Amino acid sequence: MKNIIPRWSRIMSNDEKKDDIKKGLIGIVVDETTISKVMPDINSLTYRGYPVQDLCENCRFEEVAFLVWHGNLPNTLELKKFETEERENRRISINLTKIIEHMPKRSHPMDVARTAVSVMALEDKETSDNSPEANMRKALRIFAKIPTVLGAFYRIRKGKKIIKPKKNLTFAQNFFYMCFGKVPQKEIVQAFDVSLILYAEHGFNVSTFTARTITSSLSDMHGAVTGAIASLKGPLHGGANEKVMELMSKIKSPDKAKKWINNAIKNKEVIMGFGHRVYKSGDSRVPTMKKHFLKVAKIKKDKKLHKIYKILEEVMLKKKNIHPNMDFPSGPAYHLMGFDIDFFTPIFVVARITGWTAHIIEQHAANRLIRPLAKYKGEKHRKVVLLNQR
Ligand SMILES: CC(C)(COP(=O)(O)OP(=O)(O)OC[C@H]1O[C@@H](n2cnc3c(N)ncnc32)[C@H](O)[C@@H]1OP(=O)(O)O)[C@@H](O)C(=O)NCCC(=O)NCCS
Repeated sequence: MKNIIPRWSRIMSNDEKKDDIKKGLIGIVVDETTISKVMPDINSLTYRGYPVQDLCENCRFEEVAFLVWHGNLPNTLELKKFETEERENRRISINLTKIIEHMPKRSHPMDVARTAVSVMALEDKETSDNSPEANMRKALRIFAKIPTVLGAFYRIRKGKKIIKPKKNLTFAQNFFYMCFGKVPQKEIVQAFDVSLILYAEHGFNVSTFTARTITSSLSDMHGAVTGAIASLKGPLHGGANEKVMELMSKIKSPDKAKKWINNAIKNKEVIMGFGHRVYKSGDSRVPTMKKHFLKVAKIKKDKKLHKIYKILEEVMLKKKNIHPNMDFPSGPAYHLMGFDIDFFTPIFVVARITGWTAHIIEQHAANRLIRPLAKYKGEKHRKVVLLNQR
């Protein structure tokens, strides 16, 4: 008698009885991971066991990318080999360059990045090979090429000549070089490098979960990364760093900040760059990013943004008890570094490629199809009326 009701409908009817819907999957643990640990209770984030603050203090982004993928920090030899491979893979094909040249100049660079990864899939001989070895090689290729794609589009849409990547520059230096034709002073490069470390990985966030969901059907890495980029674009996720800068530009000057934020709170507006699904008493990445944003602000002789930052932060904490998230300091920091606003989320992509691809490899290693249920609340059973009788 037990098996008369199919397994599927048994689950459905139990769910319906309990009405146990976890909208947004809040608080649901769906799998295990060894890549990072987000600890909201003590405002901490570790990659493979290392606190991010420590990594920012002592490592370059390349070392952290190696760590995220391989589980350990590289020694000198391993780093050298890894950097050589990354630098050798920076160039993009003539075909992809031409495609970027033909893209509408008004395209959002997130869409450019997404399309470029799709094109890379067409060009990569190992696209359909989901073995861990092939996946690691593909991860490195996407990682090395995405900055080149973005650098090219940055220049093309301004009517400037594309600058090819340089092998004697670090990952961060090379990105500045390809966008601006020069490398800024070391404190600015370091602030950028730190932002890449802080954006590299963050557990089962929306885009990573998207990548893992796509992977769970045994689809390929390029497809999963493409989906992750689309997911990151949204303003409730990566797109928030752009929105932060837009709102700071709208506020214009520090003396208008208090009035603006009080009005926004009164009108129950969502203030971009504040709040977090996991951290409810402060995003563990913010103190480090804020320190570097303030350094950049000092170097760039900023008179407004750091003051607006302080006022918004104080009022949000006092009136709503909501803390800033990582996008709050990174947005104005990228602006002061000279990047166009719509390049902020693509920079997030440049960093998060590491986390996404590590999760894709982890998902393949112990896969189970991700397939949740929904409680149906539409029309009851209806009879189809023939077309000529409707
Ligand atoms: C990140 C975010 C989507 C988390 O959402 P969540 O976990 O679903 O939390 P909720 O949206 O339910 O927020 C809980 C409460 O705090 C308020 N809140 C959260 N973030 C807020 C914000 N940025 N501005 C104003 N109020 C906010 C909500 O209005 C809600 O209040 P209520 O209980 O009175 O309705 C949300 O904080 C947000 O939209 N932030 C702005 C976008 C952003 O910066 N995203 C980047 C995240 S790293």
